[in-house]
This record gives sequence, structure tokens and C-alpha cells, in this order.
Amino acid sequence: MRLSSTLLLCFSTALVSSAFVLSQPHMWTKLILTQQWPNTFCSREHCHLNISYWTLHGLWPDKGIDCNSSWHFNSSLIEDLIPDMKISWPDLLHPSTSSFWKYEWCKHGTCAAKVPSLNSQHKYFSKALELYHKVDLNSMLKKFNIIPSEKYYSFSDIETAIETFYGVKVKIQCVPPSASKGVDVQTLGQIEICFSPEFTLLDCDKHITMETIVRGDQAIPMGVHKTSGFSVCDHNMPVYYPAVP
Ligand SMILES: *[C@@H]1O[C@H](CO)[C@@H](O)[C@H](O)[C@H]1NC(C)=O
Ligand SMILES: *[C@@H]1O[C@H](CO)[C@@H](O)[C@H](O)[C@H]1NC(C)=O
Ligand SMILES: *[C@@H]1O[C@H](CO)[C@@H](O)[C@H](O)[C@H]1NC(C)=O
Repeated sequence: MRLSSTLLLCFSTALVSSAFVLSQPHMWTKLILTQQWPNTFCSREHCHLNISYWTLHGLWPDKGIDCNSSWHFNSSLIEDLIPDMKISWPDLLHPSTSSFWKYEWCKHGTCAAKVPSLNSQHKYFSKALELYHKVDLNSMLKKFNIIPSEKYYSFSDIETAIETFYGVKVKIQCVPPSASKGVDVQTLGQIEICFSPEFTLLDCDKHITMETIVRGDQAIPMGVHKTSGFSVCDHNMPVYYPAVP
């Protein structure tokens, strides 16, 4: 009796949340947990950091940016999370400021906040940290012996390991070879893992680089998630996963 009423309760909660999503045509349907390899990021941005683990870039809804400009970032609302944020979600360009978190909140957090489970700064940042620790990409890669190295990896070895482990399609981004160096190798830079609004793993759309974003009632196609020269890795080109010098 108790079990079935619990099941019923979960079921009706699920119905309510999908109805909530369906009733809002511009509502996002997927969250993208994006992690970056600091060494690759810094090789393009000229930051000097010796972080040798994957760090959070952001938790991005698949629709919408800058959804509520009057909802200001306030770091005192997430004070308890700051020690973890400094390690797991560091600002590689301005390590001693909160400007990266502010940016991510305004651009993506205010859109994520359209669902009750993420409708505060504390809920948004703590969920991102929770998912980051849960997927634990750093341990996963080590377990499959994908470690920073001077030897190159085949793209499919990396992709297969990650997708086998999580059981979903992920989006892996690289910095393309630089023409000036004349080397046919791409550099591993960013990995996206996707979640449903209920925070279960979901396939990412790995080949989409142009996202349709919605600001108010306007649908504006643009490459929202194209940052720092990362693009979807070329399946046929070796991959360099650079160690921290
Ligand atoms: C890099 O590591 C060294 C030694 O651990 C440390 O003293 C230094 O502060 C670190 N630099 C940065 C930018 O984190
Ligand atoms: C935008 O954020 C402000 C401040 O938190 C809030 O009062 C307002 O309801 C929000 N607007 C929408 C449309 O969510
Ligand atoms: C930030 O949040 C704290 C705690 O709720 C509040 O006391 C403070 O006034 C807020 N600061 C701003 C600038 O809104």
C-alpha cells in the first residue's frame, strides 16, 4: 500500500513536470553539463594555471540565454558552495574574482531557473556541482587509461570509452590543428554531457553547433556554445590530450 502510493506520487510528479515543460513552447528540454580541460583553454586564452583536472565550464539549458536581466548574481547566496566552486568551477582567466560565475548565472542560470528545481542561485550552482561530482569525468578517463600524454589518441577510443561508461552520446570538442604548426592533430578541449530536466543522463546532440536560442519571443539562431575556438572533434584526426607543463 505504502509502496504503491509512493509510486503514484512519483508518477504524478513526473506528469506535472512534463506538462509544465509542454505548456511552455520556449522551455528548455535538456541541460548540458560542460567541462573543460584547463590546459587547452589556457593555451588559447593565455591564462597560466596548473590545474590538471577537468573543470566545470557551465550547466546550460539547451534553449535560452540571458533570460532575466533583473536577477542579479549575488555570491553571498552561495557562500557555502564557494570552496568547492573554487576547485571545481575555477575562473581560469580571473582566479580571484566571481566574474565567471556571475557570467554563467546571467547567461544560463536565469534560464535554467525556469524550472522549480533550479529556481534559485543556490539550487542552480549546487546542482551543477552535484552533477559534476556525480559524473566524475576525471576518474572515468583515468580508469580507461585516457591520461594526458605526448602520444596521440584516436578520437574513437576516447569517444567509445566515454559513451560506453555513461551509456549516452556526449559531445566532445577540440581545438583544430593550427595551420601555422603544420601538424595534423587536434587538441582535446571540452566535453559536454547532457541531462533531462529530471537530471537523468540523456544523449547530447553531438553535431549541432548552431543553436536556436530564444530571447523573449524571438528565436535567434547563433552559435551560443562555441567558445574559445572549440569545435566538435574531427572523427578521423588524432587527438592530443596535453599534460600540464
Ligand atoms: C602552480 O603550482 C605551484 C606549486 O604547486 C603553486 O605555487 C602556484 O601557486 C600554482 N599557480 C597557480 C596559478 O595556481
Ligand atoms: C526575474 O528576476 C526577478 C528577481 O529575482 C524576479 O522578481 C522576477 O519574477 C523574475 N522574472 C521572471 C519573468 O522570472
Ligand atoms: C545578497 O544576498 C544577501 C543575502 O540574502 C543580501 O543580504 C544582500 O542584500 C544581497 N546583495 C545584493 C547586492 O542584492
